[in-house]
Amino acid sequence: MDLNLQGKTALVSASTAGIGHAIAVQLLEDGANVIINGRGEAGVAQAVAALNQRFGAGRALPLAADMSVAGGERSAAARYPEVDILVNNMGTYALSDFFATPDEEWRRMFEVNVWSGVRLARTYMKGMLERGHGRVIFISSEVALTPMAAMAHYSASKATQLSIARSLAELTRGSRVTVNSVLPGPTETESLQGFIASVNPDLSYAEAERKFMAENRPSSLIHRLAKPHEVANVVAFLASERAAVINGAAIRAEGGTVPTMA
Ligand SMILES: NC(=O)c1ccc[n+]([C@@H]2O[C@H](COP(=O)([O-])OP(=O)(O)OC[C@H]3O[C@@H](n4cnc5c(N)ncnc54)[C@H](OP(=O)(O)O)[C@@H]3O)[C@@H](O)[C@H]2O)c1
Repeated sequence: MDLNLQGKTALVSASTAGIGHAIAVQLLEDGANVIINGRGEAGVAQAVAALNQRFGAGRALPLAADMSVAGGERSAAARYPEVDILVNNMGTYALSDFFATPDEEWRRMFEVNVWSGVRLARTYMKGMLERGHGRVIFISSEVALTPMAAMAHYSASKATQLSIARSLAELTRGSRVTVNSVLPGPTETESLQGFIASVNPDLSYAEAERKFMAENRPSSLIHRLAKPHEVANVVAFLASERAAVINGAAIRAEGGTVPTMA
């Protein structure tokens, strides 16, 4: 399916690695130019160089900025005042005993997972509405729908993203701007693979992944981690004109783990 993103500029927060990087690759494959974001100049420059070698000079654009602190969005706007597609991908997770989790950890979770997206949407969405077209996509999580006691702050932050995305979609009436959320399940990123291997040091990685899914996601219909590019395919579709009638939606990309019809 040709998604025809030629001529579009996308900003994907946290895109030097993980799901964000896979989203950047997919958007580049589909024709968009993509702003690659991470905290360090060197990591961003390395990712941009590799992507430009693969997709052509100038297609990937650097943005070294910490999106978890106020001001990251201003650095972005100073360098790139307009984008057509904003993917609020940055997010962190942690297992944490609710009774032992201090305010500071809750605040940090919301700074990284919620505030980063609020600030970037505030920076870029008005221009989209003025131009009459654009895409804002929040990368949430299945745990927004199935909150976990062991990750109460993460679950709450991911549910909050859904609320914000829906509120912002309400601002798009009559325009060709859409705002949606994508809800991945466990996805084969380096960070999650590292975690799975670390809790089962005696097993091969394949065995450890099977055990992780059986113990932690028994309702998964795919019985495996999602691949980052599988999540990225969903995001790229939403970013395209082909998804023009999907607006204000929370789209699951979690392998059927959430056992409800809608
Ligand atoms: N992985 C999963 O199983 C899973 C499941 C459901 C939902 N999700 C959601 O998917 C999104 C991506 O998750 P992921 O697992 O791919 O994450 P990840 O692998 O931890 O992300 C790594 C990326 O985040 C960047 N980064 C970290 N802190 C940053 C900051 N403060 N400012 C800018 N960039 C920053 C890193 O760049 P630098 O190191 O260069 O700064 C790198 O590009 C998150 O919102 C997460 O909640 C993930």
